[in-house]
Amino acid sequence: MQLPTNVSSLRGTLEVPGDKSISHRAVMLGALASGRTVIDHFLSGADCLSTIDCFRRLGVDIRRDGTHVVVEGAGPGGLREPSAVLDVGNSGTTARLLLGILAGQPFHACLIGDESIAKRPMARVTKPLREMGAHIDGRDGGNYTPLSIRGGALRPLRYTSPIASAQVKSAILLAGLFADGVTSVTEPHRSRDHTERMVRLFGGEMKVDGLTVSVAGPQRLRGTHVYVPGDISSAAFFLAAGAIVPNSEITLKNVGLNPTRTGIIDVLTQMGAEIAIEHVRHEDTEPVGDITVRTSALGAVEIGGDLIPRLIDEIPIIALLATQAEGTTVIKDASELKVKETNRIDTVVTELKKFGADIEATDDGMIIRGKTPLAADGIVVDSHGDHRIGMMLAIAACCAKGTVRLERPEAVAVSYPAFFSDLRSLVNG
Ligand code: S3P
Repeated sequence: MQLPTNVSSLRGTLEVPGDKSISHRAVMLGALASGRTVIDHFLSGADCLSTIDCFRRLGVDIRRDGTHVVVEGAGPGGLREPSAVLDVGNSGTTARLLLGILAGQPFHACLIGDESIAKRPMARVTKPLREMGAHIDGRDGGNYTPLSIRGGALRPLRYTSPIASAQVKSAILLAGLFADGVTSVTEPHRSRDHTERMVRLFGGEMKVDGLTVSVAGPQRLRGTHVYVPGDISSAAFFLAAGAIVPNSEITLKNVGLNPTRTGIIDVLTQMGAEIAIEHVRHEDTEPVGDITVRTSALGAVEIGGDLIPRLIDEIPIIALLATQAEGTTVIKDASELKVKETNRIDTVVTELKKFGADIEATDDGMIIRGKTPLAADGIVVDSHGDHRIGMMLAIAACCAKGTVRLERPEAVAVSYPAFFSDLRSLVNG
């Protein structure tokens, strides 16, 4: 696909699609609950459709009309042994959270995914779930798909996780819903808390005490209504674009502002971006607001520690921002990037170098020296099948002179199927 380049302005208002993390969880908790769950502004991206598909195979009646989804909850003991494999596609969240739920079910299931999923470590969830009593086997001793699981009666677990990962935390807490007693997860840094918030919305209870979250099982959930806010991780591409493309002003409406996800706003503010947040309110249990950004002179930042889980998915676009900021940006403590949809340290560095960026990989992040003009003399860049790399490269192209072709653009459908048309609607507006 030929990308828009040498863009003279990006102007207008967008509503980005629903949050991926929240959409997955709404289907999952809706499937476990008693009664009907109605979801609005659901993300109809490939990852969340994989979640719907898996739960249909587990016997749950789920109807979808665009972004409106109705889940007829199976209730306690209501999931059925699937007669075919569960295919999670490209979705790590589906794989890991589903394993947590399956650990509590007294039947057998097989789980597969695409080529990228086959490289993503699963021992981080299969190990603690085995400790709870689930029988799991799979490639490399249960670290990679294909995996098979037979769940059943679970023991509660007090787990100290070596990594800050909402997928690990959620998998164990979801299993904890079925165990007899208190299951807890302690993390080194706080990760996104959508599971905790949503379990409460469904009438369940989860306690948060510092870096420890606990759930007393067994718990019963009741179907409810879930409005899914716009995904701040999708909004991030336009927030960055608005800051670095000349003569720009972009407003993004109804964006989720959960504090465990707003690291990108902190970083943009620290870099000196002109950014305003308005109409902040709560929708169900999540804060939501409208964000406006304008073209700004940016400076470098240092990013690490507690901030990393709050912006882990935004690091590719932050790397691009750093190429357009004065000074040296250092991103550290982010080795988790190596086990995302691609090794995002490698893919970001390889692809941004094609534009002439001064960027180097480190063991746990990257170092970027700015500001460098982005040149594009007939270059061909590649998403590597990773949605966030594809979208970051499209924003980079907007700032570049010359022509840019993007290979594997269809990867964006994982989280933002209309990304390219939304981008084009702002170009030279
Ligand atoms: C997610 C958690 C994050 C994030 C992923 C979605 C979730 O992964 O990168 O896109 O919905 O729980 P980790 O928790 O493994 O860091």
